[in-house]
Amino acid sequence: MKKQKNLIYKCSSCGKEEPKWLGRCPECGEWNTFAETSISAANSVMYKKKGLPQTLPLAAIDPMEGSRISSGIGELDRILGGNGIMKRSSVLIGGEPGIGKSTLLLQIAAAAVTKGRILYVSGEESAGQLRLRADRLGLNADKSVMERIEILCSGNLEEIETVLNNIKPVLVLIDSAQTLFSDNASMHASNSVPGGINQMKFCSFELISWVKEHDAALILTAHVTKEGLISGPKTLEHMVDTVLYFEQNDKTSSLSGTADCRFLRASKNRFGSTDEIGIFTMGEKGLSPVEDTGSMFLVRREGELPPGVAIAAVLEGSRTIMVEIQALCIPAKGTISRVFSDKIDSGRVSRISAALEKHLGLQGKPGLRLSDQDLYINAAGGIRITEVGVELALACALYSARTGLALPADLAIAGELSLTGEIRPVRRLPARVKTAASLGFNSFLGPVTDQSESNSSGLRQAGNIKSAIKMIYGYN
Ligand code: TYD
Ligand code: MG
Repeated sequence: MKKQKNLIYKCSSCGKEEPKWLGRCPECGEWNTFAETSISAANSVMYKKKGLPQTLPLAAIDPMEGSRISSGIGELDRILGGNGIMKRSSVLIGGEPGIGKSTLLLQIAAAAVTKGRILYVSGEESAGQLRLRADRLGLNADKSVMERIEILCSGNLEEIETVLNNIKPVLVLIDSAQTLFSDNASMHASNSVPGGINQMKFCSFELISWVKEHDAALILTAHVTKEGLISGPKTLEHMVDTVLYFEQNDKTSSLSGTADCRFLRASKNRFGSTDEIGIFTMGEKGLSPVEDTGSMFLVRREGELPPGVAIAAVLEGSRTIMVEIQALCIPAKGTISRVFSDKIDSGRVSRISAALEKHLGLQGKPGLRLSDQDLYINAAGGIRITEVGVELALACALYSARTGLALPADLAIAGELSLTGEIRPVRRLPARVKTAASLGFNSFLGPVTDQSESNSSGLRQAGNIKSAIKMIYGYN
């Protein structure tokens, strides 16, 4: 029998195409996912092309193509890379249910600085619910805002595309990627329910393409579970230009006044850095950016610090924040000691405690024994710390916890600790010292740096962890 020429095989899990049927997909590793499909069907929607593909010399491309639309929310613009959302780009906002994705999206719709139309597509909520939220956010106070936001309650791609082509918005907001579905995608997909990975990828791809062709920008939300690793949004990450994740502190935090903090971090950013972090609080009127973040992660106390507490001056993007690092050591319950640390990578905690144990032979005595201890580490305010400059403060907190000797209450600390026990320079030390001084930290323990930086007031410099501990506690 003559082989039909226009047939290919397509993986229903990841979309990989193969000329021959395979039992296992080489792309995603799934078994029995290849289904026969005709080339014309595969090409019809996903790969629609307008005539022949054209190339352009680099010099002929207009650099203004990438102008930005300000989201009207400073904290968000900063994470996005300065002045807002790049036109023709797409942003994915992921986070657990209830963290504030829909609220942020509606606030962007209201605040975005553009004369064009804004389309808010919700497959999650009814129009009435959206109106209630808008009223709660106080958007109804501004008539022009209420009028320029167009609402579509649907997850159907074909409906959304019809509306897009009709009203030609400059900003398209989709809540959420998981509620998108298309009649066309079901041809290829093993399942045709909204939320299926194929449906989500197919529809998102179509919308991403639409904004590229029409000089608009797209923001999509996606649910992520506590484990953070849900296959759905992860598969969208490589399709979009920017991925932002919402994180939340635990509301039972010991911190006064900062009960409900939300952190927005970029995990991928084609048009900016991934260092910046946006800090918001969720209040009665939605999310408000926190501008004065310097002292947000400190616990207000009178007098002495308890043992096990150190104040770190860490850099989050372009800002310095002061964070109270808390450590607790108790004799290990099992034969193997363990590290319990959510907010600082536990690998880092193990490494610092090993360096501390190895390099602290004070006054001829053996070093500090930590390897027989279970270590608990926390950062006040529930902020996750990834910056390397936290290491010296972490070491000091561990030392203080193990020895029961409290650190001075007016001491701020920054520095990277190497495996050899040396303290390495950190970025922007003078800025850290300045922020610490402005918040009443009279002394600062940091790495040895060059002349210009060492002029900073109150800065004490230590070359290694042993001399740092000597400096703090005044040992000879
Ligand atoms: P929501 O944006 O619906 O979260 P998501 O879309 O990520 O699932 O946010 C919901 C939470 O925020 C909900 O618990 C109610 C709370 N909230 C406020 O505290 N204040 C407000 O003004 C709004 C609109 C919501
Ligand atoms: Mg929502």
